[in-house]
Amino acid sequence: MPCPALPEGFDFTDPDVYRSRVPLPEFALLRRTAPVWWNAQPHGIAGFDDDGYWVVTRHQDVKEVSTKPEVFSANLNTSIIRFNAAMTREQIDVQKLIMLNMDPPEHTRVRQIVQRGFTPRSIRALEDALRQRAGHIVTQARANGSGDFVTDVACELPLQAIAELIGIPQDDRARIFDWSNKMVAYDDPELAITEEVGSNAAMELISYAMNLAAARKECPAKDIVSQLVAAEDEGNLGSDEFGFFVLLLAVAGNETTRNAITHGMHAFLTHPGQWELYKRERPATAAEEIVRWATPVVSFQRTATQDTELGGAHIKKGQRVGIFYSSANNDPEVFDHPEVFDITRDPNPHLGFGGGGPHFCLGKSLAVLEINLIFQAIADAMPDISLAGDPRRLRSAWLNGVKELQVHYG
Ligand code: HEM
Repeated sequence: MPCPALPEGFDFTDPDVYRSRVPLPEFALLRRTAPVWWNAQPHGIAGFDDDGYWVVTRHQDVKEVSTKPEVFSANLNTSIIRFNAAMTREQIDVQKLIMLNMDPPEHTRVRQIVQRGFTPRSIRALEDALRQRAGHIVTQARANGSGDFVTDVACELPLQAIAELIGIPQDDRARIFDWSNKMVAYDDPELAITEEVGSNAAMELISYAMNLAAARKECPAKDIVSQLVAAEDEGNLGSDEFGFFVLLLAVAGNETTRNAITHGMHAFLTHPGQWELYKRERPATAAEEIVRWATPVVSFQRTATQDTELGGAHIKKGQRVGIFYSSANNDPEVFDHPEVFDITRDPNPHLGFGGGGPHFCLGKSLAVLEINLIFQAIADAMPDISLAGDPRRLRSAWLNGVKELQVHYG
């Protein structure tokens, strides 16, 4: 389907586009004119043996794709919409060991096991420890006077929360952080992370987690690792499955929440009325609006298992379908004035954590808790925080990432 108003060759997964911005005006154009649009690509540029993918832009269509795993598979080409072009098919297929890239019934089995670690009760159990950690992070940053909000504040709580959840010893945490950074930054030349460094980091993290699992099997402790690997029967994870689960948590739980916190801080600092309102009233609706506004995961993909229709487009079996959460979260059919950052927005049916269906974010409650705790700590300890520079964005094909945000802590 041609879309004449888009420049020739425009690609919604081009990492260079995201270096400066999320293409919201282009999404709006598609929602109005061609809500499910074929984005042609040079053969193989995304790492797949094909010439493009469908761009799904409307809220209702993103939900439809997300909730029909029998028609839209997360497994055939994984959920990641763009790999490095140099990636081999074997390397892509290895990613299928991660639950994000599984279909039922495998996915259902793994999800049933791991969600034991994410019950409302287990998340509530972390609250006091995380509140203390949030307070500590903010106090330390404040002592610096000014600095990079991303490394001083936004990175810290998500990392500590996952380490806390999994029971990773304090001394090992910096290594986990380093590995997780290396795995997602391969598109950004400034960070000088090659494909090889990225996959080595993934291997090291998996092997670290497998050793941890083996140790806990031998000598169980009161943590989620022990719970998930306790016995060698059908209802538990093997050490290798556990290794890949930790790998997923390190990316899914760190980068996303970090970027939600950074974009949230930037939104507050550029919308001072909202920051005043937050400091005064601390509305419970704020965290969800921060996630809608930030939409840290711009898109994931599925692959059609059969010929099908969606939003007026004819999708062929085997074609890739990109679900663009950033577009869905700005759909004026669903949100009044989506361009307004409104921390009292209610209802707020955003798709920042996914469009429903089997893969809906497992860590949503934890992420919302972390966002609430960190902004409460900031509002308490440094209410006069102010901007000292523009955000520097990550070059990435599917993450809305900020790698630096200079601030005065006040
Ligand atoms: C603001 C922060 C976060 C955002 C925006 C976010 C977003 C997402 C999205 C869009 C998905 C895919 C949904 C789908 O395909 O339908 C997802 C899946 C997932 N998320 Fe999150 N996430 C966040 C935080 C977390 C945290 C803190 C954790 C864990 C500690 C986590 C763990 C996961 C896991 C394990 C999956 C895969 C679930 C599955 O395949 O069944 N996420 N997340």
